[in-house]
Amino acid sequence: MFVYRGSTALITGASKGLGKVFAETLAARGMDLVLVARSGDALRALAQDLTARYSVQCVPPSADLANPCAAIQIGEELEHRGIQVERGKGGIINLASNASFQPLPYMGTYAATKAFVLFFSEALQYELAGTGVHVMAACPGPTATSFFDGVSTEVSPKDMDSSESVVEKTLKAFDRRKAVAYPGRTSVRAATWLSRFVPRTLAVRLAAMATGKMGLQG
Ligand SMILES: NC(=O)c1ccc[n+]([C@@H]2O[C@H](COP(=O)([O-])OP(=O)(O)OC[C@H]3O[C@@H](n4cnc5c(N)ncnc54)[C@H](OP(=O)(O)O)[C@@H]3O)[C@@H](O)[C@H]2O)c1
Repeated sequence: MFVYRGSTALITGASKGLGKVFAETLAARGMDLVLVARSGDALRALAQDLTARYSVQCVPPSADLANPCAAIQIGEELEHRGIQVERGKGGIINLASNASFQPLPYMGTYAATKAFVLFFSEALQYELAGTGVHVMAACPGPTATSFFDGVSTEVSPKDMDSSESVVEKTLKAFDRRKAVAYPGRTSVRAATWLSRFVPRTLAVRLAAMATGKMGLQG
């Protein structure tokens, strides 16, 4: 099992949603944190809170990761502060989705990017085997975060998993050195099998029915 206490995790999207719950959970396990998102005030407040509660070191560099220079700037800042994230040990958890497994009409670009995240992570996991760095893609289903804010969707709260449960199951899968984590409920996992067993055209039609039911067809 990975030794969390005393190691450093860099969390992107740490100001809210799943990233914030990852930050709280990893701080509780004794990890020092680098918290990245655009909302500087929220990051600083979270860093203060976690330092006070768990006596861990939290650095909150705010950055817009859509800016191609952002990763380099964060790397330079960490080097300047003498902070090292996981060299030769630990791992990388990439947030893919249950949308990674089939084309998703009305969320076409999103599902395609999530297929990229899944395939890229699985390939990287293979390439880095034996280096001490474990790569894992997590594939949650609908989760109660601000993800759906501002979108006219009809997903009922009872059909969503909590961020806490998704994060707990994701870290459990990471500890078991899984290449892919399925931290959603059983029906979410079952839906990812669909594209393996039905013709691709039917998989797209069924996916369109699901996003249509969510009210996403505009
Ligand atoms: N919630 C779901 O149903 C669900 C399901 C499957 C997969 N996922 C995946 O899980 C991940 C987290 O989603 P979430 O549900 O936690 O969403 P969320 O509550 O909306 O949080 C998104 C986080 O990303 C940060 N962010 C957004 N754009 C950014 C940018 N350009 N630069 C830096 N930070 C940025 C936001 O902070 P700022 O606004 O402060 O920058 C925020 O901290 C995403 O990859 C999502 O696709 C979510």
